[in-house]
Amino acid sequence: MYVCLCNGYTDRDIRNAVREGGVRTAEEAYLSLGNGFCCGACQDCACQLVEEELPNQRLLAAE
Ligand code: FES
Repeated sequence: MYVCLCNGYTDRDIRNAVREGGVRTAEEAYLSLGNGFCCGACQDCACQLVEEELPNQRLLAAE
């Protein structure tokens, strides 16, 4: 599902940035994907996705 229409980022892009890229905030996730926030309309949704995915990052780091 597209989360950010300005940049064309999907929920999967953001989740992968957290899991594999080691980012800890939505802003870091966006920058790792190439561009930061533009209009900011997606910010709440992106932050929620990052929060949801952070525990998975910790699990992978512990392996
Ligand atoms: S929709 Fe994501 S910055 Fe505009």
